Amino acid sequence: MSSNTPSRDSFTNKFGIIAAAAGSAIGLGNIWRFPYVLGENGGGAFLLVYLAFVLIIGVPVMISELLIGRRAQLNVFGAFRKLAPGQFWYLIGVMGVGAAFLILAFYSVVAGWTLHYVYLSLTNSLAGNTPGGMIETFENVQATKGLSVFWTLLFLGATAYIVRSGIEKGIEKYTKVLMPLLLLIILILIVRSVTLEGASEGLAFLFNPDFSKITSDVVLEALGQAFFSLSIGMGVIVTYGSYIKKSESLGGTALSVSLADTLIAVLAGVAIFPAAFAFDMAPNQGPGLVFITLPNIFNQMVGGYFFGLLFFVLLTIAALTSSISLLEVVVAYFTEELKLKRKRATWIAAGITGILGIVCAFNSSVFNVFDKFSSNILLPLGGLLIVIFVGWVIGPTMPREEIEADGRKAHYYKGFLFIIKFVAPVAIALVFLKGLGWI
Ligand code: PHE
Repeated sequence: MSSNTPSRDSFTNKFGIIAAAAGSAIGLGNIWRFPYVLGENGGGAFLLVYLAFVLIIGVPVMISELLIGRRAQLNVFGAFRKLAPGQFWYLIGVMGVGAAFLILAFYSVVAGWTLHYVYLSLTNSLAGNTPGGMIETFENVQATKGLSVFWTLLFLGATAYIVRSGIEKGIEKYTKVLMPLLLLIILILIVRSVTLEGASEGLAFLFNPDFSKITSDVVLEALGQAFFSLSIGMGVIVTYGSYIKKSESLGGTALSVSLADTLIAVLAGVAIFPAAFAFDMAPNQGPGLVFITLPNIFNQMVGGYFFGLLFFVLLTIAALTSSISLLEVVVAYFTEELKLKRKRATWIAAGITGILGIVCAFNSSVFNVFDKFSSNILLPLGGLLIVIFVGWVIGPTMPREEIEADGRKAHYYKGFLFIIKFVAPVAIALVFLKGLGWI
């Protein structure tokens, strides 16, 4: 524990950190964003590229972030300043804090829609709605700005309340029970979805890759989605790494979190696409996809009222455990670097995000720019700098020491080093420059 941060906590056990990091990773990114981006980018081929990126880039970047955080015992900004004094690497932290603001802004809007769907489910307002009616319902929510703003701010307020009181760990206790429950509901949804008439077309869309669909743009979208879904490239994992005990395995943590996150995303796809095709809805609907597709399934299953309500409640909670981690990045920076009190730091951060969130709720172009700019540009750029930092800047001894601090030999270390030195930087840079049309 470093002397200038006497109040640092650490997670008490292995499951604590995995639950927290998985809580950050699993959220709207898996259930809302993954299916909609996959739907817009050609289906199965996107899935393959996505999986490859999670494995080759996502896991190594996550290990890198964990080891930086655990070694420095600081927020993302302070961590880079401490590990590379007098150099510009702390800019990764600055970018991370910026990304946290942008992501939290549009994320709160989507979580706001989710809250509205909790309300609609509770009042049984979606029952009997036709597929066309579902689209209308969603468009109404988006168009009724006051309503969107109300739910957005409510969600953000709840996030701020939890972060301010420092009760995230209390929440994690529930997460351990509620996330498996979310998984269970998705499995139940899958059973209903794949038994709908016409469902096989949706499965083919998801699992039969059409390689002609792969363009540089699709590849960039897959990279951005991998970063977004794993919560990497901006310091969330650095911050969480700073709370992990030396006795925990960093590689094991990164692998478990990435696997859980990917499993939930793919299963969400298996629930959504068969239904989308069965109900004759275009898979490239955009950000409304999950909200217009799933209620149709609930309408066609026994206990649909109950499952629908539970699903949206759990999705809100999954979103909360992610938004908490985003706000935590900003608050850790404000308290440790700008020396603000936690309470004040939280409300200032939430206030700024609230304003940005209102802009996103009012203007879908701003929403899209925030969404794409943060996922496809800021996060991969952050990831690129992080792997260069670990691979080339801090020298080979420290990463190894930190990874093996749990007392076990990391047999994968050579491979890891090769990836973060060569494979990941080149891959990210290429995808990035090509996707942006610069090469
Ligand atoms: N990974 C989260 C999700 O999938 C979103 C997130 C992105 C959280 C970046 C933190 C940092 O919902």
